[in-house]
Amino acid sequence: MTQLTITRPDDWHLHLRDGDSLGSVVGFTAARFGRAVVMPNLKPPVTTAAAARAYHARIVAALPAGCTFQPLMTLYLTDNTAPDEVDRAIADGLVVGVKYYPAGATTNSDSGVTSIERAFPVLERMQERGLVLQLHGEATDPAVDVFDRERAFIGSTLELILKRFPALKVVLEHVTTREGVDFVRAQGPNVAGTITPQHLLLNRNAMFQGGIRPHLYCLPVLKREHDRVALVEAATSGSPKFFLGTDSAPHARHTKENACGCAGVFSAHAGIELYAEAFEQAGALARLEGFASHFGADFYGLPRNRGAITLRREPWTPPASYAFGAHEIVPFRAGESIAWRLTTAGCA
Ligand code: DOR
Ligand code: ZN
Repeated sequence: MTQLTITRPDDWHLHLRDGDSLGSVVGFTAARFGRAVVMPNLKPPVTTAAAARAYHARIVAALPAGCTFQPLMTLYLTDNTAPDEVDRAIADGLVVGVKYYPAGATTNSDSGVTSIERAFPVLERMQERGLVLQLHGEATDPAVDVFDRERAFIGSTLELILKRFPALKVVLEHVTTREGVDFVRAQGPNVAGTITPQHLLLNRNAMFQGGIRPHLYCLPVLKREHDRVALVEAATSGSPKFFLGTDSAPHARHTKENACGCAGVFSAHAGIELYAEAFEQAGALARLEGFASHFGADFYGLPRNRGAITLRREPWTPPASYAFGAHEIVPFRAGESIAWRLTTAGCA
């Protein structure tokens, strides 16, 4: 196959940042996706429906002219989030989920939840009202090996959440392990997982190939080959429990090429093309549309997009960097080849 037309996809997990940085990156996503679930881990975090509405307005204002791209907003869950905020968010209409960062797990997670019990009243209300819980599924106990954090989170926290709130809609975001895949598969239709392009295309060896590769460092970190294989199987299986979430997470070059580099891979410039490559490698291009354009919308109870995009099998090379406010970002595959190219002009 050399050309592929699919329903316009959505990105169910994205970091857009704010200010000038937002203006530098949002166009990449809007050119490919109809909608994106925008993460709330700004400084300060987006903790209220009012703050989400204000952030939504800044994103829309930063869009290239003529775009109808729709940001889907999220609230950042803290120890102090009031259950009534769930009602306010639903009444406001822009918020599709509440993001749970275990405190200290990742970038700007300091205000996250310190113990799951504290969030029970909010989770109760979310279960009642059908609002989705989006999980950064990593245990934060420093004694847990960094490669075991997803498995430890499932055993220590996720099982507890689902036992207590069996009807809560939960997305285990950026699933990275075989155990994570198996867990999601074993749950009812209220539990789903998103998968990033880097976790489909790479294993952890890539982070150390010929030297340390800071631009491939993200959280959860890349895992073993047998995990990657399980992720590819899940994404290409046709199961509606797995769908696209790039977790594109831009950081200025100097903050990644640093003695203590930030976590995050920027992939929005090729946010659908990289998945096409992974699905083609698996001989499953015909399954891309379900994963990228149908299953996420179905899970969130939103209509599927009406328009379409077309990709052509024609290699191209992303530049060494893109502008990022006053700084620059190094995109995934900078200076290397990507097999598929977007041919649809303009944005959603
Ligand atoms: O690699 C990551 N980057 N993982 C996260 O959970 C957060 C994200 C970010 O905001 O940069
Ligand atoms: Zn993320």
